[in-house]
Amino acid sequence: MLEISFAKAELPDEGVLVLPLAEGAELAGPVAALDKGLKSALKRALEAAEFTGKKGQQAGILAPGKYKKILAIGTGKADAPAKSEELGGSIAAALGKESAAAVLAGSAEQAAKIAFGARLRSYRFDKYRTTQKTDEKAKLTKLTVLTPDPRKAEAAYALLAAVAHGVEFTRDLVTEPANVLYPEEFADRAESLKKLGLKVEVFGQKELEKLGFGTLLSVSQGSAREPRVVVLQWHGAPHADEGKKGARKLKDPIAFIGKGVTFDTGGISIKPAGGMEDMKWDMAGAGAVVGAMAALAGRKAKLDAVGLIGLVENMPSGTATRPGDVVKSYSGQTVEILNTDAEGRLVLADVLYYAQERFAPKYMVDLATLTGAIITGLGHEYAGLFTNDDELGAKLTAAGAAVDEPLWRMPLVPLGESYDKELNSPIADVKNIGGRAGGSITAAQFLQRFVNGKPWAHLDIAGTAWAAKDTAVTPKGATAFGVRLLDAFARGFEA
Ligand code: BES
Ligand code: MN
Ligand code: ZN
Repeated sequence: MLEISFAKAELPDEGVLVLPLAEGAELAGPVAALDKGLKSALKRALEAAEFTGKKGQQAGILAPGKYKKILAIGTGKADAPAKSEELGGSIAAALGKESAAAVLAGSAEQAAKIAFGARLRSYRFDKYRTTQKTDEKAKLTKLTVLTPDPRKAEAAYALLAAVAHGVEFTRDLVTEPANVLYPEEFADRAESLKKLGLKVEVFGQKELEKLGFGTLLSVSQGSAREPRVVVLQWHGAPHADEGKKGARKLKDPIAFIGKGVTFDTGGISIKPAGGMEDMKWDMAGAGAVVGAMAALAGRKAKLDAVGLIGLVENMPSGTATRPGDVVKSYSGQTVEILNTDAEGRLVLADVLYYAQERFAPKYMVDLATLTGAIITGLGHEYAGLFTNDDELGAKLTAAGAAVDEPLWRMPLVPLGESYDKELNSPIADVKNIGGRAGGSITAAQFLQRFVNGKPWAHLDIAGTAWAAKDTAVTPKGATAFGVRLLDAFARGFEA
């Protein structure tokens, strides 16, 4: 892991130094003094490299004075500077092969965000590499951030570090192969978050049968692996009877619900072989919920929140659900399963209904890699947002925009209207697929049948949970999309 420290803004005179420079800015302050000591080598090198300070521009100057390297990095126009997190991310990427470096930051807040971005971008998953550990070789391991008030920066970073930990926790879950991460193992890892002060309950096969989670169980019944449902509670809202911790009831919590299909073969409606390995990350919604709860607990967020995840493996076998089977959901509604590959909604239906019944949440937000159709519609930039509540939609959209996890609102109509009607079954209350058209919308409509008109939003993250390319703060692979968004959303409720 990247080791981060903060120090007074006095420039070291050796090693690797990173200098963020704005567009068109003269070398000033400590940088001017540094350049003077280097007999203007810096200024001349920047000119020779045609460095203008444009956002993202980089110029590496080798071995000036006693330094190993000075890396100038453009931060763009002074009135529209690059986000500090992104700057930190690009610094970590640019320094990939340097083991240690110092970076000159501005305010404490900027310093903390640079550190946060650098840490997020430095994420690696190399536990299964027995040779060529990227960890030791091509990786920045020590970053010193120089700022006028290092203690203030440290305090700001402590909060962000809790979020970074949540992101890393999620990325690990999402990246793990399905032979390692099956429902029971996922639940065990979620349970380990008790050490952060979360209350964690785990329901197994027997309990789920007793509760009557019929649609969730219909997905897991073909697998040799037992299902799990995990409930995580964070009691953080300030309250009158402080001290008697644990005894208190949650007050108007916000609820996060996640699809956790640890592997989705499609079941009897089996998927084609090409690309099926991607379905190890069909639990990214549940992963994000757990990471967000870890972030809230880690930074001791002042609100009440619950996370509920449905964990199953969708396999074909002699005990698997057949197309045409009818099952009874926890809500009491019966469902005709016409396609066993439309399994995420079956898992969520029971967990959503349970969440609202047990916790009466103020807002309910589910995250799911629910449909391939959302990738056709929105590609890999925006996640689809479906909601029955404009205010909730606006809050989530704003939170997503603030942390670069953007959402695009999609249609959702009231029960009984156009898209919804497609789900009427000739034999049961509802069927689990609509026609070919508008697949992400009918999936959301299906979920809405298990929501009692309370404020609820569904985020279809099938296009954003996994990235084929690096971006500013996210190396390619598991993005943990949703963790920072939910954390930012939660901030809006804190006392
Ligand atoms: N997990 C998939 C959706 C998915 C596809 C996620 C690609 C990430 C990448 C989901 O369970 C699924 O199979 N959905 C079907 C629904 C269809 C059968 C109505 C789909 O999208 O094809
Ligand atoms: Mn599926
Ligand atoms: Zn799936």
